[in-house]
Amino acid sequence: MTEKNNALLWSAQGTDQMAPGVMAYLAGEDIILDQYLFLYDIKATTAHVTGLAAIDIITDKELLLFKQTLADLTSAYQKGEFELNEQYEDGHSAIEMYLTEQLGNLGKKAHTGRSRNDQVLTCLRLYMLDQLKQISAVVAEVAAVLLGLADEHKATLMPGYTHLQRAMPNTVAVWLAGFAESLVDNLSEIKYTQDLLNTSPLGTAAGFGVPLPLDRELTASLLGFNRVQINPVYAQNSRGKFELKCLQSCHHVMSDVRRLAWDLSLFMTAEFDFVSLAKDHTTGSSIMPNKNNPDVIEVMRASLSVIEGSMMQIQSLMSLPSGYQRDLQLSKGPLIKGIETTKATLELMPNLLKSMTFKTENMAAAVSDDMLATDHALEAVKKGAHFRDAYLIAKSDNQSGDISVTSSIANRVSLGGAANLGLDVIQERLNALA
Ligand code: ARG
Repeated sequence: MTEKNNALLWSAQGTDQMAPGVMAYLAGEDIILDQYLFLYDIKATTAHVTGLAAIDIITDKELLLFKQTLADLTSAYQKGEFELNEQYEDGHSAIEMYLTEQLGNLGKKAHTGRSRNDQVLTCLRLYMLDQLKQISAVVAEVAAVLLGLADEHKATLMPGYTHLQRAMPNTVAVWLAGFAESLVDNLSEIKYTQDLLNTSPLGTAAGFGVPLPLDRELTASLLGFNRVQINPVYAQNSRGKFELKCLQSCHHVMSDVRRLAWDLSLFMTAEFDFVSLAKDHTTGSSIMPNKNNPDVIEVMRASLSVIEGSMMQIQSLMSLPSGYQRDLQLSKGPLIKGIETTKATLELMPNLLKSMTFKTENMAAAVSDDMLATDHALEAVKKGAHFRDAYLIAKSDNQSGDISVTSSIANRVSLGGAANLGLDVIQERLNALA
């Protein structure tokens, strides 16, 4: 960070010299992170100046100039011609300085009635809503792939485990549809988060409103928000709270990913040998030529720790009194890290799942007749025995009769069971949420 103060909005023409290192300390990483928020910030600035024109703080002609200049900045940024670097304190300052550079005195009007406090809230919220939309789309895609695989593998036998011990015969369909249904629930949780976050903080300024008749409903609707976040103190206090809610949505999804990754890595061992990853999804060993490692699944499993670390960091820094404190800036990094990790993980999943091979013979061979003990007990119940007595008889080894693994599966007819998977019900919920 240069120690030149010419890029500080609040300095009196660069006269407020700062002690060496202080500005770099305050703004160092923030300006890099603002690259994720910059386009949203420009959009929010466009809405803000439109609002200023609506209450005659600027003229319609001036508004046009602002809009054109902000559009120019957007395209310059997208083409890499405008660089957000350490000469600016933050992305907010960069926008205002660009406007002033291009429009002279008019540019100085852009920040009328706005604080960087409501500005950062607004662009963060737009960013989170956009990211949740993307995450939601890929979660829906993963759920659809899992439902497709479940449909394909209705008859593929595998052991069902409890305590990692063979328990009852199961099918690949039941195993995988379990993850699909959970992801569908996560989608409805994401929707709730989207509703919570879909509220405009713009116009609350530093956290107390301003003595101008800002049309907050107008700017909210220009930005596509569902409603206005009414109270300015709450707007500030929701910084961190909303980030946590967003990460919580990621956490639900990534917890499922971790569990699925765990199952897959276990089922890929030579001891299980139930599934294999496509060669192009495995990695080699630097020393052992025989190895094909599922590193990608392990990193997917580990990624939840990144989300949890991010949540912990934000929870810890939120021990604050109400209103804006610069501490809150430190919620930006973990939020972005958590979101990027979630997206990167999920985006690999559809292809990874589709490219897996299910070793159906090995899976079926692992289903043994002793796993039918519960079936034997229940068969006796059907013939009038009390379950506890039937259980003891089945346990004492002298099972007989015509129960087979196939009939056991065919008889799981209640909803969700192997013979009545309810995939269509899960699919319908998915369609409604996707
Ligand atoms: N980079 C700052 C943040 O993320 C922007 C807001 C600065 N506001 C202030 N009052 N210094 O919080």
